[in-house]
Amino acid sequence: MEIKNQIDREKLPRHIAVIMDGNGRWAKSQGHSRIFGHRHGVTAVRETVETCAELGIQYLTLYAFSTENWARPKMEVDALMELLVRTIKSEVKTLMKNDIRLQVIGKTDMLPERSRNKLAEAILQTQDNKRMTLVLALSYSSKWEITEAIRQIADEAKAGKINTESITEETLSGYLSTKGMPDPELMIRTSGEQRISNFLLWQLAYAELYFTETLWPDFRKEHLYAAIEDYQQRERRFGKISEQIKNKAS
Ligand code: FPP
Repeated sequence: MEIKNQIDREKLPRHIAVIMDGNGRWAKSQGHSRIFGHRHGVTAVRETVETCAELGIQYLTLYAFSTENWARPKMEVDALMELLVRTIKSEVKTLMKNDIRLQVIGKTDMLPERSRNKLAEAILQTQDNKRMTLVLALSYSSKWEITEAIRQIADEAKAGKINTESITEETLSGYLSTKGMPDPELMIRTSGEQRISNFLLWQLAYAELYFTETLWPDFRKEHLYAAIEDYQQRERRFGKISEQIKNKAS
């Protein structure tokens, strides 16, 4: 059976998060500069977004640039920012056509003004789209996000707006940049690295992790189907035992 048809449409993750890794190695293996790999990574982004929307995934979060990535050579950072602006500019039409809303999480005040403006325009233009939400993690780091949330909660407690005894896990979730989104059930990382790299540490608490050797520029529909199929074979116990999960299902 074709791998696409093996996917159970009733058991799809609502939210898929992806660490797009391996652009540099892909380019180097072909004797090109790293940015060549990032440019080809855009094709994989496009295909992943389209496939998730077609399948009916509600949220797709892509780790496009970490706060740690600012430390890369200036030439690579500048080229990535330029690529981002160009991609957003050229893809807004497709987002509109496919009814996809764009959102961004991260310390975006660090982005160049041009990138910030383009992003803000695209977010505004797509804000009423309903089919899927595409979240770009840009200048993002999970430790930064959690620290910010704690700072805000502490400020509100100091101002007497929050009673510290009433703070729950939901309170903290409500102060993260992913507020209102379901936590990802599936996290995919390409290129064979098996790390979370400061990505959605709180939100991935119970996510199924899927690692593939495929380098990001080579990632296509079939690789996504394989990841979802693998996810659907797993038993998600959330700390319970197998029998409790099976009894609930029957
Ligand atoms: C990781 O590969 C990839 C990035 C840091 C950038 C990802 C960007 C894109 C796919 C293109 C633009 C994206 C959007 C959403 C417009 P790496 O450079 O760390 O590769 P390496 O580990 O092989 O060096």
